[in-house]
Amino acid sequence: MSYPYQINSFDDYKTAWAKSIEDPEGFWGEIAGHFLWRKKWDKVLDWNFKEPRIRWFAGGKLNITENCLDRHLEKLGSEPAIIWEPNNPEEHHRILTYKQLYFKVNQFANVLHNNGVKKGDRVCIYMGMIPELAIAVLACARVGAIHSVIFGGFSAQSIADRLQDAKAEFIITCDGAFRGAKDIPLKNVIDDALIACPFVKRTIVFTRTRTPVSMIKGRDVWWEDEIHKVETLGNPDFPAVEMDAEDTLFILYTSGSTGKPKGVVHTCGGYMVFTNYTFVNTFQYQPEEVHFCTADIGWITGHSYILYGPLGAGGTSLMFEGIPTWPDAGRFWDIVDKYRVNILYTAPTAIRSLMGFGLGPLQGKDLSSLRILGTVGEPINEEAWHWYDEHVGKRRCPIVDTWWQTETGGIMISNMAGITPSKATYATLPMPGVEPLLVDENGKEIEGDNVSGNLCIRSPWPGIIRTTYGDHERCRTNYFSAYPELYFTGDGALRDENGFYRITGRVDDVLNVSGHRIGTAEVENAINMHAGVVESAVVGYPHEIKGQGIYAYVIYSGTHGDEALIRQDITHTVSRIIGPIAKPDKIQFVTGLPKTRSGKIMRRILRKIAEGDTEHLGDISTLLDPDVVEQINRGRLSH
Ligand code: WTA
Repeated sequence: MSYPYQINSFDDYKTAWAKSIEDPEGFWGEIAGHFLWRKKWDKVLDWNFKEPRIRWFAGGKLNITENCLDRHLEKLGSEPAIIWEPNNPEEHHRILTYKQLYFKVNQFANVLHNNGVKKGDRVCIYMGMIPELAIAVLACARVGAIHSVIFGGFSAQSIADRLQDAKAEFIITCDGAFRGAKDIPLKNVIDDALIACPFVKRTIVFTRTRTPVSMIKGRDVWWEDEIHKVETLGNPDFPAVEMDAEDTLFILYTSGSTGKPKGVVHTCGGYMVFTNYTFVNTFQYQPEEVHFCTADIGWITGHSYILYGPLGAGGTSLMFEGIPTWPDAGRFWDIVDKYRVNILYTAPTAIRSLMGFGLGPLQGKDLSSLRILGTVGEPINEEAWHWYDEHVGKRRCPIVDTWWQTETGGIMISNMAGITPSKATYATLPMPGVEPLLVDENGKEIEGDNVSGNLCIRSPWPGIIRTTYGDHERCRTNYFSAYPELYFTGDGALRDENGFYRITGRVDDVLNVSGHRIGTAEVENAINMHAGVVESAVVGYPHEIKGQGIYAYVIYSGTHGDEALIRQDITHTVSRIIGPIAKPDKIQFVTGLPKTRSGKIMRRILRKIAEGDTEHLGDISTLLDPDVVEQINRGRLSH
């Protein structure tokens, strides 16, 4: 047992889970005691789901970076904290030991301070996957500022929406980012966003691609120049700012079924304890192991399992700038081989896309260092699970199928590698502290084995969402109002005879495209912005690699032109408004949409048609115009 709270047998798991449900305060209080607090909390947990009001370790004082950096210096100072593999394998990799990372985070915390960033300020970070992104995030946490990382695949408009919502006055970005053969001009995108955000006071720009950028006097400064100023002062340490456990650590925007993305708020204490606990238990992390999570830090997986989880545990986290298929589809295997990776944590979409290249790219790669495999982000299909098990893990490595969400902060339902049983395509059992249940549409609990329903959680765990930034009511209606006294996940699940859960996918209007959450309403709004579009309806359909593809039905009344060109224009519009990740895969022009007499679009029917399941459209007699279904069906685009 390498960590005092590491579970080491199935029995041990059962005991821990039972205790966590019976006495959550005793359970989590003991675990939290293994962290570095400046002052102990007044009360472990105080909650109700009605408001909701959820406070973990309130009154406790800490800074999460002291837990991720300072407390490791003595023993692990010379151990690698971050191993960075660049996009281009020809470029040199970088390794930052705990001492070096500590030094750089302190240095950049001074930069933030010199640029006017104070506790509670919102700082938007829009960078590629380089060590400076990790440094920027941790430096924000050190000065007590609230970081809001935005994934590089979002457009200027999406960034502007987020900046306005968070009222972020500071931005940290790069001139550009390398991604496969592409070079993405991040600072230019920021410049476009800032036209609508005059309140932004300062942009700090790191040089990565040497893409030409416009630097605006008084607003934009170079990262390197600012570091130089700190160096001339002799690089003083930056004393970590004392935070309350319930002070906000970060905001991360995510899509829901309605309206614009919402800012999920996580706080310092509970998030720290939960990400660490789930990290060392799910992956059964052992000191000195190399943990390779392939996610981007722009998503929650990167926050929790590239940064805060592994660093809190004094682990070694591998950060990769590139993509799995460039320069070739052997990239992941080369990295595993080169750094003797022990834990590989990736998404089903990446596995499916690599499967498509056959076994060639795996040949000659030494994967014997691998001990544990993990997946996250979407349901994994049987075929991908077995391919991963057989060809990557060589049947020796337990696979952890980890179900969780941006809102949950950390892993909620998953087997623990080699400790609790696994079952292909099942996330299996809940983490200690997590009590899942299934309910029907009326909120009635569905008990027993081999049943399915809507997945809810009964009581809070330390990593639970606290609010949606600037709009607490939205948090309540989204998660705590569908079923009184329960947190509703938006997912459907089934439970087998062992009590194992299998997540079947979203039951709301949220799509999961390549593991990225996209709201159908968001895509519709973007399509409707295109001149000539009268109305649209967006649904998901099964996609071999992406899991789900985006299928759009569009009523178009613009001057008639070439259909292929109009499709391109619409796609381009979505790219502009949301970002390339939300581009529709298929656009079908229709003359009407199936609506009920009250004007509601019957998505169920559109989903069936997109799936090609036209035999089971169900009752369409309640539609305003049942004929429209036949017309749409005839024009269906095959896959
Ligand atoms: C889905 C990612 C099946 C689910 C950490 C959830 C999964 C949404 C799994 C959250 C899994 C995540 N099996 N589905 N192991 N993990 N999901 O917020 O629909 O980007 O609600 O968080 O991804 O996506 P998010």
